[in-house]
Amino acid sequence: MMVEERLSLRVHSCRFMSQLLVTGGAGFVGSHTCLALLQANHRLVVLDNYVNSSADSLERVCDLVGLKDRDALKVVQGDVRSPDDLNRVFQLSDKPIEAVLHFAGLKAVGESISSPLHYWDINVTGTRCLLQAMQSYGCKTIVFSSSATLYGSPKTLPITENSLVDPTNTYGNTKAAVERLLRDLVASEDSWRVACLRYFNPVGAHPSGTIGESPQGIPNNLFPVITKVALGQIDKLKIFGGDWPTEDGTAVRDYIHVMDLAEGHCFALELLQREDPQLLVMNLGTGTGYSVLEVVKAFEKACGVNVPYEIINRRPGDVACTIADPTLAQKKLGWRTKFSLDAMCLHSWSWQKDNPNGYIN
Ligand SMILES: NC(=O)c1ccc[n+]([C@@H]2O[C@H](COP(=O)([O-])OP(=O)(O)OC[C@H]3O[C@@H](n4cnc5c(N)ncnc54)[C@H](O)[C@@H]3O)[C@@H](O)[C@H]2O)c1
Repeated sequence: MMVEERLSLRVHSCRFMSQLLVTGGAGFVGSHTCLALLQANHRLVVLDNYVNSSADSLERVCDLVGLKDRDALKVVQGDVRSPDDLNRVFQLSDKPIEAVLHFAGLKAVGESISSPLHYWDINVTGTRCLLQAMQSYGCKTIVFSSSATLYGSPKTLPITENSLVDPTNTYGNTKAAVERLLRDLVASEDSWRVACLRYFNPVGAHPSGTIGESPQGIPNNLFPVITKVALGQIDKLKIFGGDWPTEDGTAVRDYIHVMDLAEGHCFALELLQREDPQLLVMNLGTGTGYSVLEVVKAFEKACGVNVPYEIINRRPGDVACTIADPTLAQKKLGWRTKFSLDAMCLHSWSWQKDNPNGYIN
């Protein structure tokens, strides 16, 4: 290869791609996606109020990427509902923000049922405020963290994007409402580029075990509970319902490794920026479902630890089985999940073992 060619290749790989805003970037999915975006040479401004995270996650992301140029990741502590905080982030970088990845929000189904006003405020009003700011700064590209929860209890499996949107809880209602708002926005002006990524069940951690899921308070999701039980921080895993219409009676979910999910965001962003303005709505899942008991057994085998459990009553708002049909994302994005259930277990375990108290060490 000619010297000039080598040089131009290096310049290309060092060239920064886009200036992006990442809301909720210190959280579980956000921090892993920030890592993937920085590795793809994007420059980021993160807006997070740390209600369910800590600034430490982003420090560790910088270390993992080996970030020399600290201007490539600016972090603002603030709220997506605050026009002042939004003005601050849109005015922070010398280059205009070209696109937003919107992770900020609340996600606990049980809490959403008991605190609907709070969930509608953060998830729906928060998104409306963000979109308002985006419009006034001429930024019309957004990747939104939607959820498979909005399908409710599906009539047929696997779930395609054309399946009925019929949430069974407040959290799912807020995600469905934001998707409708985004649809209205796209219909009002054809310059918007919008991706609604309907995640199935994100789990796992960066393979290094350096960053992972670190919820504040008592965890709600299966994997953080399993790892805390394995560590002895929680007595036993409470399995909600052993009488679901599934093979072993426990609920079935489509678990997706958080690094696969992060990559899905990079691909979706790239497609939005490359193609004509459009609304993309797509499932991000593996297409394979595992019951809670199957996950427990896989975890015990892969990690060589015991996970005592007890089966108790079903939780309000839960459903028996959700499995994605990921064909659309595979075709449109050329994206494939790479990590197995064993890898999800091993990486979650190595994160939890090395960081027994999450980011609070
Ligand atoms: N993890 C899942 O199981 C899952 C599944 C489907 C969809 N989602 C969605 O993906 C997104 C990210 O989820 P996650 O698992 O990373 O959750 P997370 O709680 O780890 O991350 C959310 C982040 O948003 C921040 N935040 C919350 N309210 C805010 C506000 N008002 N202003 C600024 N920042 C705020 C939190 O501090 C946190 O850092 C959420 O919108 C969630 O609803 C998550």
